[in-house]
Amino acid sequence: MNDLDPRVAAVDRRLAEARRVLAVTGGKGGIGKSMVASTLALILARRGLRAGLLDLDLTSPTDHVILGLGDRFLTEEFGVEPPVVADVHLMSVSFLVGDRPAPLRGDDITNATLEILAITHWQKLDVLVIDMPPGLGDATLDVVRLIRRAEYLVVANRSRVVRETVRRTARFLRELKVPVVGMIENMARGESGTVQAMADEFELPLLGSLPWDETVEEAVGDPGALAETPFAAALGRIAGDLFETGSADSR
Ligand SMILES: Nc1ncnc2c1ncn2[C@@H]1O[C@H](COP(=O)(O)OP(=O)(O)OP(=O)(O)O)[C@@H](O)[C@H]1O
Ligand SMILES: [Mg+2]
Repeated sequence: MNDLDPRVAAVDRRLAEARRVLAVTGGKGGIGKSMVASTLALILARRGLRAGLLDLDLTSPTDHVILGLGDRFLTEEFGVEPPVVADVHLMSVSFLVGDRPAPLRGDDITNATLEILAITHWQKLDVLVIDMPPGLGDATLDVVRLIRRAEYLVVANRSRVVRETVRRTARFLRELKVPVVGMIENMARGESGTVQAMADEFELPLLGSLPWDETVEEAVGDPGALAETPFAAALGRIAGDLFETGSADSR
């Protein structure tokens, strides 16, 4: 990426009106980053905040599926307005590539990230939630570099396999010296001591635990139902602390 690329300056302008940018990360695929990011944006919108959600999973974007927005194909000439679903302003790579597989590599990844950040007109936002791609590859580095104001939220789990990746993510974020608001345990069953110990190891607060919740899967595509799940209730308490919105929905 070249800082002289006019799109780099455009990204700053596009995001200037977002009060906070929170990137949901966690390394391991399938840990629930998309579910956490989408539900968090939904909860905040229901509490009356102007919430944006940016799905930056360049290979398999899913937030539009979770929030039940049918297929869109946006074309842009001077930028695009994100479609609104359940009061969430949602932008997704899928709106640009459709359901074609998008096996991007190298510079293409940076270009796609840069392009989507540069063309999206968010207007005023209280918060922009970013669903980060799995892994610590170029796409993650691009976000760190392009969105200097981003804060990071690490989704974790006590599974040994997940822990290994989460540690790697936490170390990576620490090396990059970016602000991390804390860890969240997802798909929690039973004790949280293991995740607490991992959070302590990185001197991060454990913001809370989201239960393993069968009803989440049934609520995919139905924001009203999703907001009523025990998973959303637990996430709502964390959102209240992070965004000082209390815990009650405004509608
Ligand atoms: N707390 C939970 N209880 C039950 N199911 C959950 C929970 N959180 C997420 N899921 C389910 O787990 C699956 C994976 O979640 P999700 O797609 O959000 O993970 P991800 O980290 O974004 O994965 P990827 O890295 O592949 O994008 C989904 O089917 C989702 O519905
Ligand atoms: Mg995902």
